[in-house]
Amino acid sequence: MTDSPIHQTSTRKRLDPSIQEMRALGHRLVEEVVNHLSDLREQPVARRGTHAEFSSLVDEPLPELPSHHAECLEFFFERILPDLTSINHPRFHAYIPGPSSFAGILGAMLAAGTNPFVGTWLGGATVSALEVTVIRWITEMLGYAPSAFGVLTSGGSMANLTALAAARTRRANHDAPVSIYVSSEGHASVTRAVSILGFQSDTIRTVPVDKSFQMDVNLLRSMLRNDINAGRAPLCVVANAGTTNLGTIDPLPELTDICREYGIWFHVDAAYGGFAALTTEGRQLLRGMQEADSLTLDPHKWLYCPMGIGCVLVRDPKALTTAFHTAGDYLKDLPTDEINFYEYGPELSRPARVLPVWMVIRGAGRAQLAHQISEDMRLARLAARLLDEDERLEVIYPTLSVVGFRHRLRKGESEHDRAARDTKLMEDSLASGKLMLSTTLINGRSMLRFVVLNHHTSEDDIRHSVSYIRLYAV
Ligand SMILES: Cc1ncc(COP(=O)(O)O)c(C=O)c1O
Repeated sequence: MTDSPIHQTSTRKRLDPSIQEMRALGHRLVEEVVNHLSDLREQPVARRGTHAEFSSLVDEPLPELPSHHAECLEFFFERILPDLTSINHPRFHAYIPGPSSFAGILGAMLAAGTNPFVGTWLGGATVSALEVTVIRWITEMLGYAPSAFGVLTSGGSMANLTALAAARTRRANHDAPVSIYVSSEGHASVTRAVSILGFQSDTIRTVPVDKSFQMDVNLLRSMLRNDINAGRAPLCVVANAGTTNLGTIDPLPELTDICREYGIWFHVDAAYGGFAALTTEGRQLLRGMQEADSLTLDPHKWLYCPMGIGCVLVRDPKALTTAFHTAGDYLKDLPTDEINFYEYGPELSRPARVLPVWMVIRGAGRAQLAHQISEDMRLARLAARLLDEDERLEVIYPTLSVVGFRHRLRKGESEHDRAARDTKLMEDSLASGKLMLSTTLINGRSMLRFVVLNHHTSEDDIRHSVSYIRLYAV
């Protein structure tokens, strides 16, 4: 195809390259991305580096003149990609990764290439309609209330914030100070959301966990009674459906009962674990999640979508429109009887996050996604068993797919020195470029985390990762 007349006749400088150049650049980009994905396993997982080191690779003065886009692509692939922490890497076991599948990449390309505006119906009706469908698919995949509705957010943190804003609409007594109950294993984004929403600093009531790291429901009950006696108004319980530290699931059926008894909003932070409900085993573990008033999910974690996609579902969607209703004279052309997504969350301009999610779900189908999630859980159990064979290590087996392990305390050794061996193991693994782990604190004691949540990870990768760990263990 030749250049369009617009491009050929214009004498003004244009931001876009010619049509032929666009095509060549697009092909080149796809080629490079696929090359990158095709040998992920051979690449280093990550490299620790300072700002000074990395800025010496990427920093430049503000460009005054244009550069060829092909040269910009080269810059990225030669200078930025080689040292990128690769969360797609099959032996990236740190944190809770977001390993996008190729369908997710295609969806992200569609979104970037066509640039839909999904804040209002008039701005992007077909894509809004698709988001409504995908929200229904997610609701159905989890067995959540068919009447529920929600919105795709930038991630789990925004989903927790959105859910707590919805919960606030339930507040009956506006004079009494509010309490929100979270376990000591809850994610930090909940506390941050409470602070962003302008609640008092003593709003968060931290409920201790029991020896299985689950919220202690007896302690929750006594905290509720004490707070009510002291004139406080309990607003919400935030339960974990997969803690970040160990993937623990709080006792959701009991928490449902308590919330009903006290008339409290029940929010479940299922950012990590929610999609495990696609599997038979996960559905059983997550029993009670379906009773929540609101749910946080992260398609960019266990739904194999690219970074930047969370989701909040709310049983009674009116709570969202009450929390986020807004008006502007410039919005008066919008149909009020259609879904305007800006009324369901804090954003007006919103990208088509739905396209990667739609592509992943439609491309794989429910059964294949369930199979992949089961496989991640199986590989995590395998990792735990192999680590457990090393007598220098003690292991916490995964509920979902996070394995906790640490060096055993030696006779006469201080906890400080033992913890230093955990840190050294993590640093040596990272420096090897072969695998990446992370450390955390459980009951104040350090522990390493080995997460499996990646369709690129094979049984061989698990065996390799464990043999590196055994090599670096001291
Ligand atoms: C349980 C839990 N909740 C919330 C979040 C925050 O999600 P995001 O990083 O997508 O904002 C995370 C992130 O790992 C998480 O594990």
